[in-house]
Amino acid sequence: MTQIHFNMVMTTSPNSHAQSVWAHPLDQHAAGLMSPDYWRHLAMTLERGRFDGVFFADTLAAGDSSAGETLAQGGVPRPDPLELLPLMGSVTKYLGLATTLSTVCMAPYLAVRRLGTIDNLSGGRLAWNVVTGYLASDFEALGLKQPEHDARYDQADEYMEICYRLWDAFPPEAIIADKASGDFVDPSLIKRVEYTGKYYSCSAFPTMVRSPQGRPLIFQAGASNRGMDFAATHADAVFALQPRTAWAGYLAQTRAAAERVGRPPPKVFFGIQPFIGKTEAEAQQRVAELEARVPIGTALARLGGLLGRVFSEDELDRPIEIRETQASQGWMTAVEHVSERGAPTLRQLALHFAISPMMPRIVGTPEQVADTIEAWWRETGCYGFTVTPNVLPDSLEAFVDGVTPLLQKRGLMRTEYAGTTYRENLLQQ
Ligand SMILES: Cc1cc2nc3c(=O)[nH]c(=O)nc-3n(C[C@H](O)[C@H](O)[C@H](O)COP(=O)(O)O)c2cc1C
Repeated sequence: MTQIHFNMVMTTSPNSHAQSVWAHPLDQHAAGLMSPDYWRHLAMTLERGRFDGVFFADTLAAGDSSAGETLAQGGVPRPDPLELLPLMGSVTKYLGLATTLSTVCMAPYLAVRRLGTIDNLSGGRLAWNVVTGYLASDFEALGLKQPEHDARYDQADEYMEICYRLWDAFPPEAIIADKASGDFVDPSLIKRVEYTGKYYSCSAFPTMVRSPQGRPLIFQAGASNRGMDFAATHADAVFALQPRTAWAGYLAQTRAAAERVGRPPPKVFFGIQPFIGKTEAEAQQRVAELEARVPIGTALARLGGLLGRVFSEDELDRPIEIRETQASQGWMTAVEHVSERGAPTLRQLALHFAISPMMPRIVGTPEQVADTIEAWWRETGCYGFTVTPNVLPDSLEAFVDGVTPLLQKRGLMRTEYAGTTYRENLLQQ
């Protein structure tokens, strides 16, 4: 029977996705960032809640200068999620481990080696969210200049080509471990990769053998036409942050992109942010508590940083004007749809975005949240959802203890994992 798939998205900064959430009295995320026990607890809770996986969103650098206030108010410290995955993998058996890694930050050879190590150590549970660096600060941190929007994807196509060749070059059959002959591998089965491209080159024997799931599962999140073509070409699944009104259009665009490149469409996971309370009023209260903690200047800086714009507080009560930027064309399109009741003012958009970046909230009791999730899944035919937490671990525990059992009772969520790799559990392949 078809069931709904869930990943939970996290970041490794005190804010996580919701600006100033660390200042909420129940928050343990900020204090837990450097604590192995905290990450282990999250991993075990996600597996208890039968999530497909944890998904770390990440940028290499802390943000552009326009987002300076968010830096002061919870943007750092930000440990490297790649280092957290083995911790989370060590206390779980089935939970998928997805990390964002930018094609900016290391040569493809190194990415394949580092990702392949964790993929193998976790028994085939790694996923890679391939991003191309929408923040100029990612490049500046490395002394590089940010290429323009489409060129970043052209470069990433080449990057992926090298990764595929390296993944394919060392099959498990090459390991013969013949103690009599002293040969550990059969070198005739390992291919040397020779690639010279416009942007990247690689000349190497691979050091990493293919993992139990073959290669890491690939996630992508670009939302422009070029980004969607890139996702259709490479991704197994996409993480879409879109307002509810834009979901049908996004799914149609994903299918159209898949037709253009001649592959089956990637599985679409829409971002949602549940606020769960014993009563609807209690859930509403959580939203109000979080919005009240957001400094409006910070909310503006965060929105401006993402959209490549500088906003002034004088504009707060005017509807926002749409302009395309080099930063993220997809997000600009999403802005147009964010308010279901007409054009949002800058203040409304900034506060919504500060807590729930470009995604719908579901506010209510576990029953109400489960009902909405089921209705949206049935209406749109999306594959699943990326659940965005608010206060952690409280909001995760509320989902796992309240919503998971209800969806399981309805036969809409797994009670046991079907396989051991992320590919088997997420793609059911
Ligand atoms: C839902 C979503 C999640 C994203 N997560 C990240 C991320 O974690 N790190 C990052 O550097 N970029 C992230 N991005 C940025 C995209 O990878 C991409 O660079 C950006 O959206 C610009 O491309 P586009 O115009 O095709 O959307 C995300 C984008 C979206 C829409």
